[in-house]
Amino acid sequence: MAFLPFTRPSIDEETIAGVAEVLRSGWITSGPMAQQFEARLSACCAGRPVRVFNSGTAALEIGLRLAGVGPGDEVITTPISWVATSNVILEVGAKPVFVDIDPVTRNIDLDLIEPAVTKATRALIPVYLAGLPCDLDRLYAIASRHTLRVVEDAAQAFGSSWAGTPIGARGDLVAFSFQANKNITSAEGGAIVLPPDADVALCERLRLQGVARFGEDGMDVDVVGGKFNLTDLAARIGLGQLDRLDEITAKRRQLARHYFACFDRDLGCQLPPADFEHSNWHMFQVVLPESVRRAEFMARMRAAGIGIGVHYPAIHLFSLYRKLGFHEGQFPHAERIGRSIATLPLFAAMTPADVERVCSEAARILRELKP
Ligand SMILES: Cc1ncc(COP(=O)(O)O)c(C=O)c1O
Repeated sequence: MAFLPFTRPSIDEETIAGVAEVLRSGWITSGPMAQQFEARLSACCAGRPVRVFNSGTAALEIGLRLAGVGPGDEVITTPISWVATSNVILEVGAKPVFVDIDPVTRNIDLDLIEPAVTKATRALIPVYLAGLPCDLDRLYAIASRHTLRVVEDAAQAFGSSWAGTPIGARGDLVAFSFQANKNITSAEGGAIVLPPDADVALCERLRLQGVARFGEDGMDVDVVGGKFNLTDLAARIGLGQLDRLDEITAKRRQLARHYFACFDRDLGCQLPPADFEHSNWHMFQVVLPESVRRAEFMARMRAAGIGIGVHYPAIHLFSLYRKLGFHEGQFPHAERIGRSIATLPLFAAMTPADVERVCSEAARILRELKP
């Protein structure tokens, strides 16, 4: 039986032909395709300005810079995310302040944000793990009570919504990733949705070496920018994927529902919240029983032809963060989930039979592993 990875992109033939056309066009770096991608993304986000980048990490970092976050500032975030979330805080010279997660949603525990606010707090970075958003009404009420900027790490949440509004269509700064594993991809890439009064020209300068052009041959640099522009090749992939957003999201939801129908509840695993209103079902993650060693479970699943992912170990326990003073015991929910969370296969080209296979192998292996 073919190996079932935990994820796989679905790139259609029309998109492959479109990429070939870009390759033959004589213009392969940022150009008309990147602009079209921005316009199409903006249309998905209530017409707000959108700028694309070569990664979601770049989008987050520029988001922090646009929010005025820098040395001396604190940014409150979650320890359960891809480490990019907190690395960008360090990158702009600010201090990450972690608070524990809600063990049910696995997102930042909104109740813990206000007690962590100090005079130095400048911004919040909530993360929508597996595509499940935070309660945006509560989040923005907290931000406005303390005059904090918000950079939403919606890397995994393109196609998710809150109260009937797509993620990105409201709020402060919202960053998406189109890295290969995401629901829709440009191989690598990202985007930021800006508030209507944002300095879009500054965003563009920060994206490319700080360069501003004017007139026929004028050029100036007044800020240090990076090299974060998205190629037209990548943008063309993203455009092809956007056409299929609804189909891909619907397929993922259907497969997630099938997981709930098939996954044996007597195995001692904690399933994700059964949210079919807001989540784009970027991942289907279970928390294994404490007694099961995740590495052993993964190795046995791999031997059964099934790939399992780890998203994510708790960030504050990485060496870099320990050197900053973080330590075991600070965020018990994050530590427990970071040790035992396992991502089961979920991607648009999977079939219900694949889900059934994952569930029956997981049940067999977990029964073997349980003391
Ligand atoms: C939650 C989260 N934040 C940030 C990122 C960074 O995005 P990228 O890999 O496109 O730089 C990712 C993607 O991997 C992510 O999942």
